[in-house]
Amino acid sequence: MEVLGGELSKSALITGITGQDGSYLSELLLSKGYTVHGIVRRSSSFNTARIDHIYQDPHEAGRRLVLHYADLSDSTGLRRVVEAALPDEIYNLGAQSHVKVSFENPEYTADADAMGTLRLLDCMRDHVHHTGRQVRFYQAGSSEMFGAAKPPQSEATPFYPRSPYAVSKVAAHWYGINYREAYGLFITNGILFNHESPRRGETFVTRKITRAAGRIKVGLQKKLFLGNLEARRDWGFAGDYVEAMWRMLQHHQSGDFVIATGEAFSVREFLEEAFSCLDLHWEKYVEIDPAYFRPTEVDYLLGDSTKARTALNWEPKTSFKQLVRMMVDSDLRLAENERLIHENKFVAADLSRV
Ligand code: NAP
Ligand code: GDD
Repeated sequence: MEVLGGELSKSALITGITGQDGSYLSELLLSKGYTVHGIVRRSSSFNTARIDHIYQDPHEAGRRLVLHYADLSDSTGLRRVVEAALPDEIYNLGAQSHVKVSFENPEYTADADAMGTLRLLDCMRDHVHHTGRQVRFYQAGSSEMFGAAKPPQSEATPFYPRSPYAVSKVAAHWYGINYREAYGLFITNGILFNHESPRRGETFVTRKITRAAGRIKVGLQKKLFLGNLEARRDWGFAGDYVEAMWRMLQHHQSGDFVIATGEAFSVREFLEEAFSCLDLHWEKYVEIDPAYFRPTEVDYLLGDSTKARTALNWEPKTSFKQLVRMMVDSDLRLAENERLIHENKFVAADLSRV
């Protein structure tokens, strides 16, 4: 903890700060007075769009958002960042988070999601040992870990992972528990069901649908190719879920917590809801492409978050309909802007010619 303007300010370190959840969590922690340190991967193009609105120039006095280049595959870098950030709380959100991609890149997924967690836990273990500081660790576990287990799923439901991503997350979950028990560290596993937002990556099914609905509405797209429409998910709003992450680390005891809405809908129902927001009939535009089927599918996720509701006093604030509407409205605005650019025959710089 550092003294900021006479007040004690907590320091948090977030891996995956450039992702959907990282951006909402940063906003939340900054609003609570934290100094937020984030790990950014080096990329040949900018990957900070989701946090550009809160970015603070390194030359700004008293800045509270500090970005560090590091990668979950590189322990040395992680150690340096932990030593520089002196975090009171570590939120490990960084991951190769796409289930379908994990079948194509299983080894990389295991390295980032399972081994990456182990590397960071080991940094924390040494840091706590050498400094005697109190540090709390949040691990971004997933309902995918339940996989084929019968719904509703709670903390007591045995895992049955169905993808390399899910297996890696199960490993990370158990590394967390082992480090908690072996070294007495405060390590909490969130088991979060699907959560979405206008900042959701565009290849996840909800955003793929709302993005397409907006583009179809303004005449920029004619078809939407999807895979399995029958899968059921318990979809919440990412903004509500980062609040749960924070509450988990404020709780007096570490543990494992399911975070979910308790309502599930099929991909088909999401489609219906999103397209009807724009007075469109999805059946006219959607085609099934088996390329989007998964070798092993997760059919039905429905969370029972009674423990979090009781112990953390957390509950979701955004309904399914409000979530879909929020995403559709945002993607309609995006599509309208795209169309303006298109109609004005705006020519983006062709970098291949320079
Ligand atoms: P996301 O949007 O895909 O963001 C993932 C973040 O991880 C990005 O900042 C990404 O950096 C970073 N990252 C990827 N590989 C990395 C590596 N090797 N080293 C360091 N950083 C790396 O995911 P999200 O939806 O925000 O989810 C956050 C976490 O919660 C993930 O661990 C995810 O698996 C888990 N989770 C998500 C959900 C959900 O429904 N959203 C549910 C349960 C659990 P780039 O921006 O450079 O790609
Ligand atoms: N991505 C995608 N693209 N999924 C499709 C498509 C498509 O074109 N068509 C149908 N689906 C189905 C998938 O087969 C899956 O059953 C469902 O839509 C949801 O897929 P995603 O949106 O990719 O999410 P996910 O449930 O596989 O994984 C997300 O939620 C997990 C929590 O349960 C990710 O955010 C994971 O990182 C997260 O852990």
